[in-house]
Amino acid sequence: MSPVSDSSNRVIPGPQEPEEKTYHPSDGLFTDAHVPDFDAYLALYKKSTEEPEEFWADVAQEFYWKKPPSGQMLQFNFDVNKGNIYIKFMEGAKTNICYNVLDRNVHERNLGEKVAYYWEGNSPNHHQTITYNQLLRNVCRCANALKLLGVKKGDRVAIYLPMIPELVYTMLACARIGAVHSIVFAGFSSESLCERIMDAQCNILVTADGVYRGDKLINLKKTASEALERCKESMASSVQKCVVVKHNAFRTNSDASNKLQTPWDESCDIWWADLMDGVSDECEPEWMDSEDPLFILYTSGSTGKPKGVVHTVTGYMLYTSLTFKYVFDYHHDDVYWCTADIGWITGHSYITYGPLANGATSVLFEGVPVYPHVGRLWEIIEKYGVSKFYTAPTAIRLLMKYGREPLQQYDLSSLRVLGTVGEPINPEAWLWYYDVVGQQRCPVIDTFWQTETGGHVLTPLPAATPLKPGSATCPFFGVQPAVLNEHGEELEGEAEGYLVFRKPWPGIMRGVYGNQERFESTYFRKFPGFYVTGDGCRRDKDGYYWITGRIDDMLNVSDVCSGHLLSTAEVEAALTEHPSVAEAAVVSRPHAVKGECLYCFVTLKDHKEFNRTLMEELKRKVREKIGPIATPDFIQNAPGLPKTRSGKIMRRVLRQIARNEKDLGDLSTLADPKVVEVLFSQRWEAAA
Ligand code: WTA
Repeated sequence: MSPVSDSSNRVIPGPQEPEEKTYHPSDGLFTDAHVPDFDAYLALYKKSTEEPEEFWADVAQEFYWKKPPSGQMLQFNFDVNKGNIYIKFMEGAKTNICYNVLDRNVHERNLGEKVAYYWEGNSPNHHQTITYNQLLRNVCRCANALKLLGVKKGDRVAIYLPMIPELVYTMLACARIGAVHSIVFAGFSSESLCERIMDAQCNILVTADGVYRGDKLINLKKTASEALERCKESMASSVQKCVVVKHNAFRTNSDASNKLQTPWDESCDIWWADLMDGVSDECEPEWMDSEDPLFILYTSGSTGKPKGVVHTVTGYMLYTSLTFKYVFDYHHDDVYWCTADIGWITGHSYITYGPLANGATSVLFEGVPVYPHVGRLWEIIEKYGVSKFYTAPTAIRLLMKYGREPLQQYDLSSLRVLGTVGEPINPEAWLWYYDVVGQQRCPVIDTFWQTETGGHVLTPLPAATPLKPGSATCPFFGVQPAVLNEHGEELEGEAEGYLVFRKPWPGIMRGVYGNQERFESTYFRKFPGFYVTGDGCRRDKDGYYWITGRIDDMLNVSDVCSGHLLSTAEVEAALTEHPSVAEAAVVSRPHAVKGECLYCFVTLKDHKEFNRTLMEELKRKVREKIGPIATPDFIQNAPGLPKTRSGKIMRRVLRQIARNEKDLGDLSTLADPKVVEVLFSQRWEAAA
């Protein structure tokens, strides 16, 4: 039963198992909450689904419109049997998201002198404070510089930058002039970068000379140059100019600078500082239609080739702004910190657009959680008085390992709300976050969403929603979830099945860049009439949603601060590129810190030997092709793979072997059941 359709209109926590204990947000902490209790949530939710036009028109009122919304608010088709899938929100209205997140704050809300970002470098000695005034000027300068390079409305700009202020300047500069940014996480390999540049046909690449992550030096420009070389080789090069930021870690430290490799191509490369020199810090925004594209962000696809998820201006603006306000119960004096990287959707929506749209002050952190010491995150929370903190289960599990002691050295009393995102959070990590980090004062807000959803879709609200560890609880305003069985039949009440959505909300993706067919087949064909998330879920007796994990061949891998989707096909493709490998099959195996990790089975070509050197070569291959986040934890020699008679690899069996689950169930469809025994006898217990 969904809490919103419950006849008594409230969540009734019945008799519960210990792990189903409900946690109520701390009294007195939220006297001025935007949504003060569950009834208020239900009332707003009802309005958002029954009168969506009015609901979103109210939200739109806070923004600046060059041409106000008029006519139909939302037009869409979710049913492949009725024609093309499309979603249009406030089409015909004109605005600019950069104007709304910067100029509006400076000129209409008098927030010019307010801090937009406390930038905290990888090294604690590097930090910088950026006000809204300064941010606006820097963004305008960058926008004018991009125009000087010939960038126009609709052009695609690839951004391959670490977490430095220039990353925010560049993305907002693109938004200001109507260019479409395509940010590629700076941990991706040259091959992944090249693939993304080519798919979106980007004209410009913005990168940096290098960056330190912890004590590890990353030669970013070298990787960027290799990517451009690769693009040229495939005769599909579109990049005319590569703008290079000189990172301040190398400006101030000649020793570090000497270790950097910065290949330079005079015909293409240009230093950021030279480009910005003498450029005006005022720039008239390009007035965009609501449905003009804002950005492309690539996410893994189950076929192996990444998909360019497209978001458009108005829907994304309203949705990230509103979710930020309600989900973190944002107030003007908050200091907010999201530890994700802007290279992922979490950073796009909840470091850049959502917080800025609200005029918030955020921490922008370049480093990693345990450098130069294991208390770094807690130190930063104390330093800036962070009140709203947003991170991933993998970071929590990593920090749990060091116990309470590192936290006890810092004053964390400023904290009010603790958010989590990226993968299901195990109750043990949830409770540690709640008890140890939040001192049982702060609600843990488990936000479920995807690159495709643009913003939070299932989430508690801090003062309103009774919490259950491990559950993303209830839908956000305007979001209408459903649970389907394999046959596409809708399940009512307590149920487990496919998590789908029956209607669009403003922030949902508008397409896969350049590939309508892939958009429809990935998200809409399996169950006509619904958006299919690819996640499984359970709905409990109180109508709470529990994400059970991916149901396709995808898995969540993690870097230090956030979880990302990766398809097993991508990793298999990298492994089979090695000349010794005949076939590869990759499955996920639970990992104490990362949540999931990669367990790979490889079948070698005749007369090839499986040894440590080969394993290292295979790991390197995957790192080079995809990036370090995809590095396999286990590689096992598989003289044969469990296949059905029709030749399909039975991944279920491989998953069980990787997890050492001996009860394999029905193996009657296997062509040769003996291979299973062999694989069991050679499995890895601990990481190789
Ligand atoms: C998973 C990240 C459980 C899920 C914003 C989803 C989660 C995928 C949660 C999207 C959560 C994200 N609980 N699972 N709170 N948040 N996921 O596109 O499998 O990088 O489909 O977006 O992460 O990953 P993406």
